[in-house]
Amino acid sequence: MPLRFECKNQDIPINKQVLLAICGGIAAYKSAELVRLLRKQGCEVRVVMTHSAREFVSPLTFQALSGNPVHSELLDIDEENAMGHINLARWADIVVIAPATANTIAKCAHGLADDLVTTLFLVATCPVYMAPAMNQAMWNKSVTQDNIRTLESYGVSFIGPNAGDQACGETGFGRMAEPAEICHQLLAEPKAEALQGVKVLISAGPTREYIDPVRYITNRSSGKMGYALARAAAQAGANVTLVSGPVNLAAPRGVEIVNIETAAQMYDAVLTRADENDIYIGAAAVADYSPALIEKDKIKKQAEQTSLVLQQTKDILADVARLANTPFTVGFAAETNDLAAYAQEKLHKKNVDMIAANWVGQEQGGFDSEQNALEVYWDKGHASLAMMAKNQLAEQLINLIATKFNEKNRI
Ligand code: CTP
Repeated sequence: MPLRFECKNQDIPINKQVLLAICGGIAAYKSAELVRLLRKQGCEVRVVMTHSAREFVSPLTFQALSGNPVHSELLDIDEENAMGHINLARWADIVVIAPATANTIAKCAHGLADDLVTTLFLVATCPVYMAPAMNQAMWNKSVTQDNIRTLESYGVSFIGPNAGDQACGETGFGRMAEPAEICHQLLAEPKAEALQGVKVLISAGPTREYIDPVRYITNRSSGKMGYALARAAAQAGANVTLVSGPVNLAAPRGVEIVNIETAAQMYDAVLTRADENDIYIGAAAVADYSPALIEKDKIKKQAEQTSLVLQQTKDILADVARLANTPFTVGFAAETNDLAAYAQEKLHKKNVDMIAANWVGQEQGGFDSEQNALEVYWDKGHASLAMMAKNQLAEQLINLIATKFNEKNRI
C-alpha cells in the first residue's frame, strides 16, 4: 500500500523561500501543483527552468502560480550586476530540483555548471533536495546510482523516485514523487532523531574466502543494503561504524569504515567492537564455509576432477548475541523458500532481537538490486516492509529498529 502524504495547511504560515528548479521531463507538469502547494503553506516560491523544461510546460504557468518571474538564463541582462544566479541562490532557504533528470543529476555530481540550474546548485549553501524523474532503465543504470550516492555524500537529499507506470510505457522506479510528498518532505519539521548519540555497528557486503593467492569464493552481495542502513542510521543521529567486505560503494557521510576481506577478518573486526556498541546489524553476506587450507602457491591444473575441503566459519551474529554485554542485535536472512519459518528459526536459534528476511533468487529485489522488500520478525511481532528503493527501505528498517531498541532499553 503506497504511503500517503498530506501537505497540511497550518494556521501559522511557513515563511520559507523556496527556489524550485525544473528540468526537462514530462513530470515537469507536476511541478505546477508543487508551486501551488508550497504557496498554500505560506512559502515564497521562485522558479528557474532549463531550456528543455520550457518545452514541456510554459514558463507563464509558473510565473502565474508563483507570482514571480521565471528565470532560465545564466547571464541575465535584466539583473543589474549580471549575477542573477548568485542572488537567487543567496535568496533561497531551500533549493529543490523537481523533476531532476539523469543529465542534471550527472552534471551536479561532477560539478559542471553550464546552465542556470546546475550553476545554482553549485552556488547554493542552503539544503538542496532533488526529486528524480526518468525512465526506469536510466534510474537503474550504475552510473546514475553512483551519481546519486556521490550527491548524497555531498549532503543532497533525495525524494523518491516512486515505482509505477511510466510515460514511456515501462514500469518500475523512476516516476517523480507526488507533489504532496515533495512538499511534505521539504517542510517537515526536523524530526527528533530516533538514534541520537546511539552507537551502531553494521556489517555489509560479501566476504572473500581464499583458495590460493589468486582465487577465492565469494557471493553476489553488493553491500547496498548495509550501506543504505549505515546512511539511514547516521541520519537518525547515530554514531555509525561500518565493517565492510569488498564493495564498489562510496562511504556514507560521517560513517567510520573498517575494510575487511574474509569472514575471519569480519569476525575479528565485529567482535572487538560489538560490546562498545548499542546496536549491531549483521547485513553482511558472510561466507558460511571457507577453504580448510589456503594453498601458499597458485594451484596448478592437474586431475580431470578435483574437490575442495571447506570448513564452517564462525557465526558472527550468534557470537555477538552471546556476549555478556550484548548490543541490540539484528540479523538478516536471505531465503529462497519457507521464508517465515526459516527467519523465525534463525531469530530463536541465534538468540537475536530481530531478523529482517528477504526473498532471494526472485525477479525483483535481493542481491545487487536497487530495491528490496523485507519481512521483519522479533519476539511475538512481525512487520512487512513493501518493495521499495533500498535507501527508503533502510530508513523504514532503521525506524523500526530504533522503536524496538528504545522499547527494550526502557524496560
Ligand atoms: N552470519 C554471520 N556469520 C556467519 C554467517 C552468517 O554473522 N558466519 C549472519 C549474516 O550476517 C546474517 C545472518 O547471519 O545476518 C543470516 O545469515 P544466513 O547465511 O542467511 O543464515 P545462516 O545462519 O548462515 O543459515 P543458512 O545459510 O543455512 O540459511
